[in-house]
Amino acid sequence: MIAESKTASEVLIEKEDQYGAHNYHPMPVVLDRGEGVFVWDVEGTRYYDFLSSYSAVNQGHCHPDIIQALTEQAKKLTLTSRAFYNSQLGGYEEYITKLFGFDKVLPMNSGVEAVETAMKLSRKWAYKVKGIEENQAVIIFATGNFHGRTLSVVSASTDPDSKAGFGPYMPGMKVVEYNNIEALRAAVRDKNVAAFIVEPIQGEAGVVVPDDNYLKDALAVCKENQVLFIADEIQTGIARTGKMICCDHYDVKPDVLLLGKALSGGVIPVSAVLANDEVMLTIQPGEHGSTFGGNPLACVVAQEALEVVKREKLSENAEALGAFFRAEIEKLMEETEWITLVRGKGLLNAIVINCPEDSSLAWDICVKFKEHGLLAKPTHGNKIRLAPPLVITKEQILECVAIIRKTILSL
Ligand SMILES: Cc1ncc(COP(=O)(O)O)c(C=O)c1O
Repeated sequence: MIAESKTASEVLIEKEDQYGAHNYHPMPVVLDRGEGVFVWDVEGTRYYDFLSSYSAVNQGHCHPDIIQALTEQAKKLTLTSRAFYNSQLGGYEEYITKLFGFDKVLPMNSGVEAVETAMKLSRKWAYKVKGIEENQAVIIFATGNFHGRTLSVVSASTDPDSKAGFGPYMPGMKVVEYNNIEALRAAVRDKNVAAFIVEPIQGEAGVVVPDDNYLKDALAVCKENQVLFIADEIQTGIARTGKMICCDHYDVKPDVLLLGKALSGGVIPVSAVLANDEVMLTIQPGEHGSTFGGNPLACVVAQEALEVVKREKLSENAEALGAFFRAEIEKLMEETEWITLVRGKGLLNAIVINCPEDSSLAWDICVKFKEHGLLAKPTHGNKIRLAPPLVITKEQILECVAIIRKTILSL
């Protein structure tokens, strides 16, 4: 008997399984190409991308203008390290600081590096400016947070999957309940508190949107107590929620702003820490850095990625189509008991499936979405994040709602 031959996807999945660490559990689809809102697998099947690489490809896959900026610069100069000046960094720094309204930027690469940088800045600022006694600074985080995977960041996590088994943990961290202003108010009474680091919407936790006044009140509480308010907009920033940053919805100007992911349109890892001089100048030469941070390739890519967001009015598109999408899902909820909630802002949304958190139903639904041509992934058990690239059109949203409807009504 002749053994059945494997598909290209099966062969590649087996390879990853055999030779790669098992730190992810991907959907069984092997992607090979992307353009705008679409990705294609190695067999040539096309899918709508409703994860957008965890909101890194807000501008759509392989945006031609970003790729052009990348390739032109790649032929000229990619990396100098910060041992020398480079011809792209100053212009980019001027551009991004003026765009977001801060004195200075500190360029890094991955999102978690931006978070780490913010934590280091907070501590320096605490000792040099606030006058906290050396080694006593405390940074406050919120329950349900996700800020990345480094040891100090997981030390502040409340998610056992992210945290358990990685101790001993970093001291100088405190966690208060998210969306509970009184908990924050009580915590900042400690005179050693340097900063409060918060996601304006908790993406990984399942797109948890706080009460309308939470961020504004939190900023006020921080100001009253000389505590830095640090917004982690690595997932919510760059137009994802319908404004350039999510804090703009609430008229909140953080002391420190963290950006990553879509800052490069998902092309290369680029992150940024934005702050005013009082905070940023507490770090001096030799005290912090990164070989790749601020490299000329990253600078041109990030600047073009931001230009695309403005030129193509992606905030406006996310705002309008996000509201439209949620309204369509609410209509679907009248036809089914399987979806208990749709929530989000702009095009960062999630549906909550009517099943226990530890059920595999949300995963099975995502496998069915895939079979119908849409890629999404559950987050925290029974929630499915639905976050397409922001270049999506109304007609495409309707097509995707039809896929979601067909899948849910077939359960
Ligand atoms: C809010 C937030 N902060 C930080 C990170 C970490 O970013 P990275 O994976 O690029 O280190 C993420 C990633 O999902 C995130 O959502």
